[in-house]
Amino acid sequence: MKVLVTGGAGYIGSHTTLSLLDDGHDVVVLDNLCNSNAESVRRVEEISGRHVEFRRVDLLDAVALDAVFAEFRFDSVIHFAGLKAVGESVEKPLAYYQNNVVGTLNLLHAMERAEVRTLVFSSSATVYGASDRVPLNEHEPLDASNPYGRTKEQIEDILSDLGAADPRWRVALLRYFNPAGAHESGRIGEDPQGTPNNLLPFVAQVAVGRREKVTVFGGDYPTPDGTGIRDYIHVMDLAAGHIAAVGFLNNRSGVFRWNLGTGRGSSVLEVIQAFSEAVGHKVKHEFADRRPGDAAVSYADPAAALADLGWSAHRTLAQMCEDHWRWQRNNPFGYSNDVAVPSLHGK
Ligand code: NAD
Ligand code: UFG
Repeated sequence: MKVLVTGGAGYIGSHTTLSLLDDGHDVVVLDNLCNSNAESVRRVEEISGRHVEFRRVDLLDAVALDAVFAEFRFDSVIHFAGLKAVGESVEKPLAYYQNNVVGTLNLLHAMERAEVRTLVFSSSATVYGASDRVPLNEHEPLDASNPYGRTKEQIEDILSDLGAADPRWRVALLRYFNPAGAHESGRIGEDPQGTPNNLLPFVAQVAVGRREKVTVFGGDYPTPDGTGIRDYIHVMDLAAGHIAAVGFLNNRSGVFRWNLGTGRGSSVLEVIQAFSEAVGHKVKHEFADRRPGDAAVSYADPAAALADLGWSAHRTLAQMCEDHWRWQRNNPFGYSNDVAVPSLHGK
């Protein structure tokens, strides 16, 4: 199949592109590089030994989008492109609604014009809000609590309405839990710009000597060790979930929703411990107040994805940390790896 991957230069998109190529698909990556580096696409080509067409296009540019659909005949689209920082979305809500919602509308219009009606969309467990009811299944009411999460909820609504109006559409809404890790080659991985918002990249930057210590947001949650619990999922397991969804949509029309998580929760301290073991020395941390809006516990009920897609995540937290560390150790400054690091520890 020929697949258009929007946001394919980013973290999850680059890993999924690699899995698609390994699975024999042809891929065109569309990305405006606002939060990524084209080097990721080059490295995906290097690892796979396959060519990837790359188009630097902004989803807000409808004319350029149409040109991509005129140039290639796609069987399906996997749509990762979007802004994803919760805090920034609170400060700049218009930028988030514009980029994520309007960008997706532009994509859907272009798809309609080109008569391509198969779409896998990157949704998020953030649509469940700060619900502590676990495990979370797909029937939980949606209650996003910030503008970023609301863009995901709104796009889910738009796609549900579209599927109801036109039964030719084939849509998978994939609600990711907490992506972590990197491809086992250590050549591609997560490369956040500025201070990482998420736990794993922050821990990795402390481990590599770019930051002094991890701040643990809250040690007084009603959890066994007092820290927040999340469902960390290896990015290569996540990539496999996309392949499974594309295959499923090949045979069925309609709008489908699946959680992509492991069904297991790990605390912040367990993550820091597992990462320390991967590195071979202790990653320093200190406690601070809770971060506003955080749930105490969040993990998936992944049963529907297993039943419908035959997919489940099988990589462990230890593997996520080992693979994340290999990437960070080999690329301390990510894809712009031209700055010297004062001291590198570990194996
Ligand atoms: P990322 O920032 O690494 O990748 C997103 C890519 O989209 C980037 O390469 C960026 O340059 C591109 N992009 C953004 N706006 C664009 C636009 N208007 N036109 C073209 N390209 C544009 O993020 P990621 O972690 O790989 O996330 C991918 C998707 O998964 C996002 O939609 C995100 O909201 C969603 N998601 C991520 C997480 C997570 O924790 N990483 C969790 C749940 C859902
Ligand atoms: N945490 C810390 N210190 C940090 C960063 C995080 O203690 O420096 C804690 C958080 O309080 C939370 C856990 O680590 O308990 C995970 O936090 P992340 O920010 O990594 O992940 P979240 O679960 O808060 O949210 C992430 C994305 C959302 C997405 C959600 C589910 O940021 O966009 O996963 O996919 F919706």
